Amino acid sequence: MWEVIQNRQVLFGNGKAALIPGLVKQATEKKAFVLAFSETAPCVVSLLEALKAAGIDYVLDASLRGEPSTIDIDRIAQKTEGCGAVLAIGGGSVMDAAKAVAMLATNGGSVVDYQMNGKPIDKPTLPLIACPTTSGTGSEASKVSVVYNPDNGLKKSFYSPYMIADTVVLDPVLTAGMPEAVTVSTGVDALSHAIESYVSLNATPYTEMYSLQSMKLVVKSLKRCVERPDDLEARGDMSLASYFGGCALNAGIGLDHIIAQPLGGITHIPHGVACAIFLPHAMEYNLEYATKKYCDIARVFGAVGEDGLALAREGIARVRAFLKALNAPDSIRPWLPADFELEKAVDIVVGATGHIKCNPRPVTREIIRDTIAKVI
Ligand SMILES: [Fe+2]
Repeated sequence: MWEVIQNRQVLFGNGKAALIPGLVKQATEKKAFVLAFSETAPCVVSLLEALKAAGIDYVLDASLRGEPSTIDIDRIAQKTEGCGAVLAIGGGSVMDAAKAVAMLATNGGSVVDYQMNGKPIDKPTLPLIACPTTSGTGSEASKVSVVYNPDNGLKKSFYSPYMIADTVVLDPVLTAGMPEAVTVSTGVDALSHAIESYVSLNATPYTEMYSLQSMKLVVKSLKRCVERPDDLEARGDMSLASYFGGCALNAGIGLDHIIAQPLGGITHIPHGVACAIFLPHAMEYNLEYATKKYCDIARVFGAVGEDGLALAREGIARVRAFLKALNAPDSIRPWLPADFELEKAVDIVVGATGHIKCNPRPVTREIIRDTIAKVI
């Protein structure tokens, strides 16, 4: 038995961002709240000009730097007074923040109530239009928001079916200006979503379909995005890979994300970079518990052979080679704070994600410790 929460409307294609003013007007007759990754980036400037030209009043916040904290969310949510819809323009951090802000605008209180204290989200959020400018997190496809809580050092998610974006605008043109490092880290995040959801114990025919298609698109086009940043066909593939990876995440995450997500709270390593570092180790750990599916993954990466451990191993080798060709980091050392303590990090990981049980192999404290130790 399973259920799916999906966006109501998804628009894909070069230039689709031009439809945003009309979408905002459909969503509300009041002011719009615009949460953007920058005030001066050309794609944001032209979207704001288009809103103005359409006679749409808006309140802009472009203050978010990096992944959102509970303090950011509460501060930004105060600006939504009198607004009737939220427009998010940015990467996963902006998407996650927008979901939380749209929720607080109608449900009230502090984000900490919902993230840490289990307060129910029982009212629909403000209508949310999500327009990603990076390709990887898939946050535009999910009901989940991940927020850093400085009170306890946890980067923790909370979610509600109400929090999924109503409308998603996937316009590859907006992603063409992404720097190489962001292209790689976000792209590998999408790859990790695809692989981890595919082998998840909670995978369904719905999520498997999205996982495989996402993986194929990453293999086909991520390297091409690095080599030819303005190649809109490759950028379009990655926009879809990210979105499909987000849909696949209905199956849950695995060991890579179980470690990478909370470790981001301790080290402030970008999420996709942490995913790239732990992904091959997580795959090795799971190898014998999801061999058949690892063979499917190996085939997506171009390996051939009969189902079995040898082909599954070849798949991991190919993922490693793929990451190496992208110059993805393989150690967290550059991001470790001076006071980093392994046991304390393990405590934080267990506290934040120890409840997640869909990794194909049971995740123990020892495995978390050993996996982190391998990349220090
Ligand atoms: Fe992720």
